[in-house]
Amino acid sequence: MDFKGRDVISIRDFDRPQIEAVLTEAALHEDDHPDLLRGRVMATCFYEPSTRTRLSFEAAMHRLGGRVIGFATAKTSSSAKGESIADTARVMAGYADAIVIRHPLEGAARVAAEAVDVPVINGGDGANQHPTQTFLDLYTIQRACSDLGGIHVGFLGDLRFGRTVHSLAAALAKFGTKMTFVAPPFLRMPRHLVEEFDDLGVPYRELEGVEDVLRDLDVLYVTRIQKERFADPIEYDKVKGAYRIDRALLAGAPDVRIMHPLPRVGEIATDVDALPQALYFAQARHGVTARKALLGMVLGRRLSGPTGGGS
Ligand code: NCD
Repeated sequence: MDFKGRDVISIRDFDRPQIEAVLTEAALHEDDHPDLLRGRVMATCFYEPSTRTRLSFEAAMHRLGGRVIGFATAKTSSSAKGESIADTARVMAGYADAIVIRHPLEGAARVAAEAVDVPVINGGDGANQHPTQTFLDLYTIQRACSDLGGIHVGFLGDLRFGRTVHSLAAALAKFGTKMTFVAPPFLRMPRHLVEEFDDLGVPYRELEGVEDVLRDLDVLYVTRIQKERFADPIEYDKVKGAYRIDRALLAGAPDVRIMHPLPRVGEIATDVDALPQALYFAQARHGVTARKALLGMVLGRRLSGPTGGGS
């Protein structure tokens, strides 16, 4: 199971043992390895806003002794002059050993990956996929609940446009995790994804309100409404503020862990932050750990052997 030189475009490209290998590697990155990627350069090409994804990738690279180049907005790159994604990727491949790309168009990371030989990592492509977020989400769930297969995970929020949801649900499906999708009708999971779960025999339910299921859940994964992906602002106004998790609601479910990819914009009241079940800031911290693991693996500096032990 060699990860060297590998692209990370969709969680669907990883089977369960490969996902487990990344999680095992991430645990080894709880320790510092300040020279692991010394002399290597990572490029971040971000055409969409980002705080956590870009900066945790950069922090990961710095913490492993590597260096970072890149741009954080399309405006300051040559895409503003009309350069194609493939051409930008080709040029960056001449400057860097790995490329991390975030783009509003679905499939953009795949286009970049097909244009170059260096590993390309998808930092989010439109409403489609966000595989590195999924690795840190799985790592967070595994640390909190140990068994990914035997738990019940609820998803609440914008399940229609939320790429973190699409990626994480596809990953959990590989573990046979029981899932409940909670959303207003306009924001429910895309039909092609639930049909895929039907074909695979994945156990899932769809609900409109979270109250009925909250006590049965091990994890509730809350998301922001992805305002920027709405074609019609009137539709956004109709669903805005449709759900909110607060301390009063959680009083009846003190064991359910609350996760969120962040940023939150009101879906989780700040009075939840101090509860031991609030995992979202730890989750964001795990972004550095999971991304250190991925960078080390695709750049051929894996800490665990192919079978999970030693060199
Ligand atoms: C998410 C994203 O960009 O998809 N953010 C992140 O990477 N942590 C979620 C979001 O923007 O709502």
